[in-house]
Amino acid sequence: MKQYIGIDLGGTGIKGAVVREDGEILARQTCPTRPRRGPAAVAEDIGAMIRTLGRGREVAGVGLGCPGTVDDRAGTVVYACNIGWVNYDVRRTLEDTGFSVRLVNDANAAALAEAAVGAAKGTRSAVVVTLGTGIGGGVVLDGHLLTGFTGAASELGHMCIVADGESCACGRRGCWETYASATALIRRTEAAMAAHPDSALHRIAREKGGVDGRTAFAGQEAGDPAATRVVAEYIRYLGVGIANLVNIFFPEVIALGGGIANQGETLLRPLRAQVQSQEYGSAYTKKHPRIVTCTLGSDAGVIGAALFAAEKPE
Ligand code: BGC
Repeated sequence: MKQYIGIDLGGTGIKGAVVREDGEILARQTCPTRPRRGPAAVAEDIGAMIRTLGRGREVAGVGLGCPGTVDDRAGTVVYACNIGWVNYDVRRTLEDTGFSVRLVNDANAAALAEAAVGAAKGTRSAVVVTLGTGIGGGVVLDGHLLTGFTGAASELGHMCIVADGESCACGRRGCWETYASATALIRRTEAAMAAHPDSALHRIAREKGGVDGRTAFAGQEAGDPAATRVVAEYIRYLGVGIANLVNIFFPEVIALGGGIANQGETLLRPLRAQVQSQEYGSAYTKKHPRIVTCTLGSDAGVIGAALFAAEKPE
C-alpha cells in the first residue's frame, strides 16, 4: 500500500504523520508553531519534519493542511488570519525536501478524512467543524467536498453570528470563531477568573499549569458557578452556528473536531438540545442531522492532508 506524509499546520502546533492510503498512521511528529516567527521559519520546521518522517521510506507525496485559503495550483497560502500568512509561497520553501507538496485547507482535510474513514464514513453529506485556535469547516455534499469558485469555500468560522460583535482576526466583527473557538473559550474562562477571584477555576488552572480549553469544563464538573456559566454561554454560541449549518446544508452528520470535542457527551448533549430548538421546522422533521465528535480525533487533519496528497490535482 502507498504511503503519504500528512502535515496539519495549526495556530499552536504542527502535526505530521506518515499515513497509509487506507488512513492508518505509521509514524508521527509534532512541534510548536510559534507563528510570530513568520512564515519562513515555520515552513523551515515543516520541511525538517517532512525530511525526518520521510527518511528511509517510500513516500508517494506530501499533503499540507493550512489554516486558511490555499491555492494548490500555485503552491501558495493565500490568506491565513490566525498565523498571519498572506500570499506565501510555501511550496517553494519546501521544494528542497525533494517531495511534491499539495496544499489543502486544514478543516477541508479533516472533512476528507472523516468522510473516508471516520465519523461520516458511508454518508453522502457531512459537515466537519474543527474547534481550535479558529473554527474551521469542511462540507461534503453528495459525496464531494464543497470548494466554491476558487477553492475558498467553507470558511464556516467566519460566518457572522453577532452583528457588530467582537472583532475577529480576519478584520470582520461577530464571526463565529470569536465566540466558539478554543481561543474564545479560553478568553472567556480568563475573564470569568478575573471577575471571580473565589472561583474554583483558579485552583484548576494552577494545578494544570495554565488555562486551556478544558479548564471551564473541569470547573463545571467541580460545581463551580462561574465555570458553569462560561460553559453554558460557550455552548449557546456554538449552537447558534451549528443550527445555521443545519438550516443551510441539512447534512446527515455534523462532526466536531479539535481539542474541545474531546469533552464528548458533556458538550454534545446540551449542544444537540440547543441546535434542535433552532432547527427550521424542528417539530415536524422526522430525522435530524446526527451531531457527533470526529472519530479520528485530532488525527483527522494529518490523515486528511495525506489522503488529499493521494488525490489527482484539479
Ligand atoms: C481559518 C480557516 C481554518 C480555521 C481553522 C480559520 O480562522 O479562516 O481557514 O480552517 O481557522 O484553522
